[in-house]
Amino acid sequence: MRPASLDEGKLLAQLREMGAVGRTPEGGRTRHAASDEDGEARDLLVRWMREVGLDVRVDRIGNIFGILAGENGRLDGACMVGSHIDTVTNAGALDGCYGVLSGLAVARAFLTEGVRPKRPLIVAAFTNEEGVRFQPDMMGSLAFAGGISAEEALAATDDEGRSLGSELERIGYAGEEPLPIATPGEYLELHVEQGPILDGEGVQIGVVEGVQGIWWWRITVRGTANHAGTTPLALRHDAGHAAARIVTFLREMAKATPATLATVGTMAFRPGSINVVPSEAVFTVDLRDPERACLLAAEEKIAVFTARVAEEEEVSVVMDQLVRFDPVSFDGGLLDLIEQAAAEKGFSSRRMASGAGHDAQMMARLCRSAMIFVPSRGGVSHSPAEHTEDDQLIRGAEVLLRVVSRLICP
Ligand code: GLV
Ligand code: MN
Ligand code: MN
Repeated sequence: MRPASLDEGKLLAQLREMGAVGRTPEGGRTRHAASDEDGEARDLLVRWMREVGLDVRVDRIGNIFGILAGENGRLDGACMVGSHIDTVTNAGALDGCYGVLSGLAVARAFLTEGVRPKRPLIVAAFTNEEGVRFQPDMMGSLAFAGGISAEEALAATDDEGRSLGSELERIGYAGEEPLPIATPGEYLELHVEQGPILDGEGVQIGVVEGVQGIWWWRITVRGTANHAGTTPLALRHDAGHAAARIVTFLREMAKATPATLATVGTMAFRPGSINVVPSEAVFTVDLRDPERACLLAAEEKIAVFTARVAEEEEVSVVMDQLVRFDPVSFDGGLLDLIEQAAAEKGFSSRRMASGAGHDAQMMARLCRSAMIFVPSRGGVSHSPAEHTEDDQLIRGAEVLLRVVSRLICP
């Protein structure tokens, strides 16, 4: 026996309620990892998991798991579904929450229809997927998959010097379960596309074949502070100008390569005064490409250009790599199952790659993994304007239910 349907109204209502946690005046929500707002969203999720009858556990890195027991009584080999509930600044309501709450909706379908699966179902909410406050991103799933030790992850600090470990303790989510709590048989993540492809083509379901590589750096340029009105251009060691040259170079480099994307999302000058030549510029670089060879080539070009700028501007340039996640391919068998489930439901689908990073990309190190996408209106995400129609959200959850049912109720 398999569950027949899920409670659509409940899923949509929970997405709205979770989306109200951490509201911003701009109409978005901000729930950086291990902040008060993240704590509030976690409390809500844990309450919902318990209400539905899941056994809730929290591991050392604050990952939350809602467990639905299987016939065989073992956690290893469980089917895991999930995503994250932390957000970027001023985010939409769906990025991450959609996968977690759809996972919960699937578990609820099993419990309300009294279906006991052969293997357990674990609904996971991973800590710090976004990586806004603590780096690296996808930290909870990375630690789960053994890519970083719990100690190293918990020691990561934010801009104010507070550690993830102390912040998790403060909000009550420094758990005790080991990493990983179990080795799943497979991991499935349902997510909004966050890009324009499905919406543009009018396709209902994305069968995600893999995730492009994501490399991050912090670049620090150091020059000399000096008077803006008295220092001739030729005598300046202007960290701000040198940084601007590198930023422009990154865009030109990306433009000249078919699939490379380069983004400078943060920058700060010191001393940060209108009439002072900057002595220091610190900025971040987010570099992405589906091909590792292209990332390596871009890294080399950036190194050569920054060395040139350092020499010409008589400044120093230091590149610290924060993240080096290579491209990942998902499991072919799971992709077939997703495609088949979409076809059985009468939904149109297409295979595609993910431009955004996801916990599934870390989980693929540990077990068979795959993702399901639904369209994002206009391809907008990481913005309060992120939107997916309710009927689309339900279609994605129905595909997830079908795939999970097939896997754990064979
Ligand atoms: C995660 O949202 C990322 O792609 O940076
Ligand atoms: Mn996400
Ligand atoms: Mn995101």
